[in-house]
Amino acid sequence: MSAFDLNISYTYRVQPVSLPVALSVNKTLTINADRLMRRLADLAEVSPIDGGGNCRLALTAQDKLGRDLVMNWMTELGLSITVDTIGNVIGTWDTGSGAPVMTGSHIDTVRTGGRFDGNYGVLAGLEVIETCQTANLELPRPLSVTFFTNEEGARFAPDMLGSLVYAGAMQVEEALDIVAIDGARLGDELRTIGYDGSTPCPGVVPHAFVELHIEQGPILEAEGFVIGAVTGVQGISWQEVVIEGQSNHAGTTPMALRHDAAYIAARLTVFLRELALRYGQHQVCTVGKIDLFPNLVNVVAARATLTLDVRNTDNTVLQKAEQEIADFIKVLASQEEVTISTRQLVRFDPVIFDDRVISLVESIAHDSKLSVKTMPSGAGHDAQMLARVCPSGMIFVPSVKGISHNAAEFTHTADLVAGANVLLQSMIALAHHDFNSQASAS
Ligand code: GLV
Ligand code: MN
Ligand code: MN
Repeated sequence: MSAFDLNISYTYRVQPVSLPVALSVNKTLTINADRLMRRLADLAEVSPIDGGGNCRLALTAQDKLGRDLVMNWMTELGLSITVDTIGNVIGTWDTGSGAPVMTGSHIDTVRTGGRFDGNYGVLAGLEVIETCQTANLELPRPLSVTFFTNEEGARFAPDMLGSLVYAGAMQVEEALDIVAIDGARLGDELRTIGYDGSTPCPGVVPHAFVELHIEQGPILEAEGFVIGAVTGVQGISWQEVVIEGQSNHAGTTPMALRHDAAYIAARLTVFLRELALRYGQHQVCTVGKIDLFPNLVNVVAARATLTLDVRNTDNTVLQKAEQEIADFIKVLASQEEVTISTRQLVRFDPVIFDDRVISLVESIAHDSKLSVKTMPSGAGHDAQMLARVCPSGMIFVPSVKGISHNAAEFTHTADLVAGANVLLQSMIALAHHDFNSQASAS
């Protein structure tokens, strides 16, 4: 049975959600795999790193080159392009009328980024639009593809910044004043690369948003699934911790008299690891960045600056973890007689996606004979911000060995193509779908 038929009955969900969608389109329509793979390869040529990945930290000259390339492709497809005041770029295929069905993701990367994280979702969105254009589809609504500014948060915190501002959850003025890890002001960097657009934020509220992404974790591959129908995104808490001790001579200072910032950073790092193991389940904790001062072999460290990344799908458990960490920081400060200050960089509650969009992704995958698993996302994504304003969801495809934020990130072509086809069918279905009338049908 097709997801596009009226009165669909689902046998695989306890709470079936029917989408009263009647389509007159060719249900066998598929994306052009070669074109998608060529664009992925071309974008991966922009600022490559050893091992096949990319370094395009947000709003750097490298990010600009990637943006320019994707904007050229949008132009070639005849899309209406807007650049908003936080630098999000939206290409819209003006067909039908009303609010667009939007897809998209990001093309900024972490310093050791893979070629698929974010890029895949953006380029698959372009491919969906080109496929529909080539087939002369007449859709009732426009289709948009977006790349959002600074999804990674690796240079400017918070992550998902562009989509956060797009959704109206942060004022653009506040975002423009954020300072990068290298000291640059976001608004200045945006102007330098020429992406300080004029389209206002918050942006147009889409009819629906669906983002295609690699899983970035090991589950789909390990369990033999091709598609993930993403149920939501876990809560994210980032803090910067600064430990102020006292620099002193490494050879002469008795151990009992030290105020060693490096030692306290190490103890905090171990505490996070052990906390995550103790909590189990969805609890993860990471210390991804430690800077020491003066960072010399024979000097007790005077200062340590480190970041804590703590995530859980359950907000109550996440809050408990945050409280335990805060309490332990007090103990450490008193034991070593150091001063410890903390600054919250990110705090996002867990997000639950729209059940109708989750069901749609599941049903399209089933209909396409693709194995599908409902699962939460461990990584943050722009879709979690769009979920604040419109029905939103995500599609995952497997990551080989679950490796991501690493140049070795890899997804098999067949899976990339399968995911893009599910995105195609999802966007077409959503373009035909009236959420208001569906409320009574679900
Ligand atoms: C974004 O990639 C994140 O940190 O989840
Ligand atoms: Mn991503
Ligand atoms: Mn990422």
